[in-house]
Amino acid sequence: MVPLIDSHAHLNDRRFEADREEVLARAREAGLAAVVNVGFDLPSSAACLELAGAHPFLYAAVGVHPHDAGEVPPDYLERLRELARKPKVVALGEMGLDYYRNLSPRAVQEKVFREQLALARELDLPVIIHDREAHAAVLGILRKDGLGRRGGVMHCFSGDWELARECLELGLYISLAGPVTYPNAQKTREVAARVPLERLLIETDCPYLPPQPWRGRRNEPAFLRCVVEEIAALRGLAADEVAAATAENSRLLFGLPGTS
Ligand code: NI
Repeated sequence: MVPLIDSHAHLNDRRFEADREEVLARAREAGLAAVVNVGFDLPSSAACLELAGAHPFLYAAVGVHPHDAGEVPPDYLERLRELARKPKVVALGEMGLDYYRNLSPRAVQEKVFREQLALARELDLPVIIHDREAHAAVLGILRKDGLGRRGGVMHCFSGDWELARECLELGLYISLAGPVTYPNAQKTREVAARVPLERLLIETDCPYLPPQPWRGRRNEPAFLRCVVEEIAALRGLAADEVAAATAENSRLLFGLPGTS
């Protein structure tokens, strides 16, 4: 069984409170070599670090999600900088823009996104970007401000092939999650078939977005192989090939051990 890397999970979510250790054990049994556990505000980022400290195969990303951008304390950037310097932090994020739910004012979302991009350039860390219904604004900011040397990933990519091409031109990786297994997700399935294999990542975004067989239930890293199998089928490849390539891409982007 070729090991998998889950490039984006929220294992500190309260839906894992009762059985987190069992979820982690199932992830290991399912062949997960590493999971990047992602924060969405300062407390959840600190919690990601703590969990990563207790489990060798877990890594942490620290950042402020656009939903939470409106709630950050005035010194959040300084506190994020401190968190980001701890061991096992492999990226800044998730950060970005969400014009679908608009839980924070757009101007605040943009400010907090740009400040975190600048911090990533300063600390030489890759970024994990959340973009929902804000494609033009996200690309505009990335073009104007610039990605750092370490680049980044468009997490849970939800756009069409045209947008994917623009992201690839900016040097971003494209990460696909459970929705690629949904029969009606035509755009995402087209992207899955066309993204160069060396630019593709996979993720669960658990507890959200379970693959088709588990829809309506809580997602977890052990379900990730279903995403790999679907992408492989869409590309006419063996699942092991997709597993190996996406794991290698995650290792390269996040600087995880074992990069060949
Ligand atoms: Ni997420």
